[in-house]
Amino acid sequence: MFEHLLRENIRNLIPYSSARSEFKGVAEVLLDANENPFDHDFSRYPDPMQKDLKAAIGKLRDVDPSKIFLSNGSDGIIEMIVRTFCEPNKDSISYFTPGFSMYKVAAQLNAAETNVFELDDDFKLDEKAFTANFKDNDKIVFITSPNNPTGNSYSVDQVKYIAKNFKGLVVLDEAYVDFSNVPSGLTILDEYPNLIVMQTFSKAFGAAGIRLGMAFMCQELVGYLNKVKMPYNISRSTQQEAMKILGDPQRIKSEIALILSERKRMEVELSNLNQVIKIYPSDTNFLLTKFQDSAMVYKFLIGKGIILRDISKVKGCEQCLRITVGTKAENNRLLNSLKEID
Ligand SMILES: Cc1ncc(COP(=O)(O)O)c(C=O)c1O
Repeated sequence: MFEHLLRENIRNLIPYSSARSEFKGVAEVLLDANENPFDHDFSRYPDPMQKDLKAAIGKLRDVDPSKIFLSNGSDGIIEMIVRTFCEPNKDSISYFTPGFSMYKVAAQLNAAETNVFELDDDFKLDEKAFTANFKDNDKIVFITSPNNPTGNSYSVDQVKYIAKNFKGLVVLDEAYVDFSNVPSGLTILDEYPNLIVMQTFSKAFGAAGIRLGMAFMCQELVGYLNKVKMPYNISRSTQQEAMKILGDPQRIKSEIALILSERKRMEVELSNLNQVIKIYPSDTNFLLTKFQDSAMVYKFLIGKGIILRDISKVKGCEQCLRITVGTKAENNRLLNSLKEID
């Protein structure tokens, strides 16, 4: 159904095939991959298809494991999707701004054009205007919900409208979905085969360090990404750690609850400061905050050893800093420092 969207050299690519992925049956002696035969924790290559991990993720998200693709963070998935489908110097990707900056990097890395749509002043998305802005050479559209750095979500109906009216692939980046009450695009995955939903272990799951991004899509699209991925693209340690994390859903749940209650407290505390002009509504683990003088605040906090993300150069986010919700102690340290200059 989507073969025509593939970049030509990928359509013609014969992927690498390891002896172990070709072999079916019970292997007792592994002399096929030039590994060190001694029994260290990591002497053997990992499962190239991450079967156990995909089964566990599928169970958590109620998605068939055959519809899951894993890569080196969502960043890695974004880059792979652009690399797989965009013909260099010909095709384009579309996304909105203010938004996540990796889409542009992935486009530049792969010599794809960018078609950028501006959100309105409240960061609302007019999905009809967004769709009307698509160009003939747009192959992929990125929607970020909840959005970074703005913090707000878009509805499943908006995603549906875009997926229905776009002939290419719609990538819904849900890195922050676990902090939001807005339903996930996974609820419509089966209705829209051109939809890819991306999630990550880096935010609510508390595992940015293992670099694991998840993407959910129809089996045909998984097949194309499998063709392009490096054979053993998820390390054995990452797969093990991810299984451990999924084995303790209560820990994830309770940390999300703590982050959400701290977010609420920080909204109130920050809004009491004279320096703060506005705190944008957030469905994420950060607060986009507009200051009277963001450059001064940013510099002052660096002197205190506190780093925020400076968003002030982004059009529509002038004088804004993005504040990640930390632990209670970290948040108090930030508040106390801000009170010193208030
Ligand atoms: C919207 C969005 N997508 C993707 C990512 C990248 O996530 P990962 O750590 O899985 O590469 C981020 C990270 O900040 C993000 O904000």
